[in-house]
Amino acid sequence: MQVIQNKSQLREALKRARAGGKQVGFVPTMGYLHDGHAALIDRARRENDVVVVSVFVNPTQFGPNEDLAAYPRDADRDMALMRTHGVDLAFFPTVDELYPQGYTTYVSVDGPMTQTLCGRSRPGHFRGVATIVTKLFHLVAPDRAYFGQKDCQQVAVIQQMVRDLDFDVEIVACPTVREADGLAMSSRNVYLTAEQRAQAPGISRTLFAAREMVQKGERRAAVVSEYIKKSIVTIDSAAIDYVSIVDSKTLSDLELLSGEVLIAVAVKIGRTRLIDNIRFEV
Ligand code: PAJ
Repeated sequence: MQVIQNKSQLREALKRARAGGKQVGFVPTMGYLHDGHAALIDRARRENDVVVVSVFVNPTQFGPNEDLAAYPRDADRDMALMRTHGVDLAFFPTVDELYPQGYTTYVSVDGPMTQTLCGRSRPGHFRGVATIVTKLFHLVAPDRAYFGQKDCQQVAVIQQMVRDLDFDVEIVACPTVREADGLAMSSRNVYLTAEQRAQAPGISRTLFAAREMVQKGERRAAVVSEYIKKSIVTIDSAAIDYVSIVDSKTLSDLELLSGEVLIAVAVKIGRTRLIDNIRFEV
């Protein structure tokens, strides 16, 4: 595995790696890698000749009162995981490399898709995501890029951006990887105290129970949403940011559940904000 910190070396390495028409798969991450990231890497490994993973805690997608400084980092552990999973190129740029002094250009996906769910409580977040993903797509020029459904709105926003800006890349959305007790894997789970960690699976349990409720015949979003809220508030030190029942493609609110439905929640447990979602056909 080649470890690269600067853009020109990355371009050089990719030019060589791509020789003879080799296909490039790309997994952008913010590091502190876990099995959720590994699942994306494994899929990229299966579907491409060359696998590139970036690790960059992107400052532009964090709000002023968010956890940029505290975000967990462990480059050595990340490199070990990447080696185990057969990554060819590991890109670890510095902030100055991607946002040098005088940087002023941003990509924003406007419209309802970024104004709902996480976009409401994290203004500017998706502008930061769209900007960094654009930059990384230009640098890596992948044939396929892999994203997790755990960040369902991120996938929708990136797909919209790729369509709108004519990026020549296939976006591959991969299922959420969970801990044995159902908690969606996340680099942020490390923030949880032992007691909070024990409570956290209540979020996914509630989502699964809500799905069962719908599968048994309930179609009214308000009823399902109320059930989820009541169930989540029983989790110690949990505060609901949102519970949304939306169409999985447009992310617009549903009153009656039909088609491919997405139920997405954001919950703060203590100071840690966790997101989770499930999607299913009704
Ligand atoms: P990060 O949170 O590190 O996640 C990197 C990728 O891993 C994302 O596509 C995310 O959806 C996926 N992922 C995280 N947890 C997962 C899980 N439990 N199961 C499946 N996939 C999972 O998302 C970001 O970084 C950033 O916003 C980024 C796209 C890199 C732009 O900065």
